[in-house]
Amino acid sequence: MSDYQITPLDHDDVVAIAAIEQRAHLFPWSAAQLAVSSHQFDHHYVLRLTTAPSCIIGYFYTRCIAGEAELLNIAIDPDYQGQGWGWILLNGMITTLRHAGADSIWLEVRESNMPAKALYQKHGFQVVHRRQQYYRCADGCREDAWIMEKRLP
Ligand SMILES: CC(C)(COP(=O)(O)OP(=O)(O)OC[C@H]1O[C@@H](n2cnc3c(N)ncnc32)[C@H](O)[C@@H]1OP(=O)(O)O)[C@@H](O)C(=O)NCCC(=O)NCCS
Repeated sequence: MSDYQITPLDHDDVVAIAAIEQRAHLFPWSAAQLAVSSHQFDHHYVLRLTTAPSCIIGYFYTRCIAGEAELLNIAIDPDYQGQGWGWILLNGMITTLRHAGADSIWLEVRESNMPAKALYQKHGFQVVHRRQQYYRCADGCREDAWIMEKRLP
């Protein structure tokens, strides 16, 4: 596996992130959403390969308020998926949020998103609620959201 760093997102990273976002998500965030400036409760990070040529291959957006953290967005460049990078990035996220004072991490995921659900479950996230018909789908139908939580010791 290549050398890597997980570092706070810089404004200059948004172009690379936006390109990944368009290919990774069914309903991607806009470049404007991704450019959201850093805020005291926000923890947005990129995963960067440091072996030449250096490039961003993933990112996460989170916020943490009063010990409760929320995962807002996470993706790995489709060209790098299935190689263990999501596992590494989620580990980095958990460490970051623990240092930020989080007691728990919450997230929402589409019921049909098998890779993400498997990744979260492998990291110890538990399903605490199912929000019925929450997400719209490409075919105009709706699907449930799984609300998952991980308690941090
Ligand atoms: C979810 C995502 C971040 C996983 O990243 P990844 O780099 O492909 O994941 P990894 O290679 O590190 O795999 C880690 C674990 O995730 C699960 N996983 C990954 N890809 C999977 C797949 N295609 N099918 C089932 N499980 C999968 C497995 O549990 C895997 O562990 P294993 O290899 O020991 O079986 C990535 O698929 C992605 O960016 N998806 C698009 C964006 C997205 O859906 N984000 C989440 C929104 S809630």
